[in-house]
Amino acid sequence: MSGNASSLIEEREALSLLEAAAEARTRAYIPYSGFAVGAALLDAEGGIHFGCNIENAAYGPTNCAERTALFSAVAAGRPPRSFRAIAVTADTAEPVTPCGTCRQVLAELCAPDMPVVLGTIRGPWRVTTVAELLPGAFSSAQLDEDRARKGGDRP
Ligand code: THU
Repeated sequence: MSGNASSLIEEREALSLLEAAAEARTRAYIPYSGFAVGAALLDAEGGIHFGCNIENAAYGPTNCAERTALFSAVAAGRPPRSFRAIAVTADTAEPVTPCGTCRQVLAELCAPDMPVVLGTIRGPWRVTTVAELLPGAFSSAQLDEDRARKGGDRP
């Protein structure tokens, strides 16, 4: 297993999250792409929320592993922005990288400096952050600014 030294997350923790992501990956529902992805999200209490990609015959409703893990954690009652780290893995030569939609959802539900461990079941992995994955993300700040200018409150 190869990785990178990171001050964001301990190697031991990154590897155990990657292992959980690999377990989640085995549950992927992938009749169309055949490309299985797994994710594991670590919450503030040390709990792990699993995610796998879940595809759809209409393609568009497909949910990526990262979003499955995030939505499942929020639905289980974990507060947005309270998460400690997420790991994602697939069977790729290089560490898998999240799609644009998942980057936007990570930006909404996780702190900008939250570590994101990108891996592959073949070994290599690296650590990045939510902000690095989506610099300049659209956020509630822009909605708030717009509403404030119009003199309204958030619904
Ligand atoms: N996919 C993920 O689940 N996460 C990623 O980071 C990349 C893409 C899924 C979506 C689809 O089910 C399959 O991989 C092929 O795009």
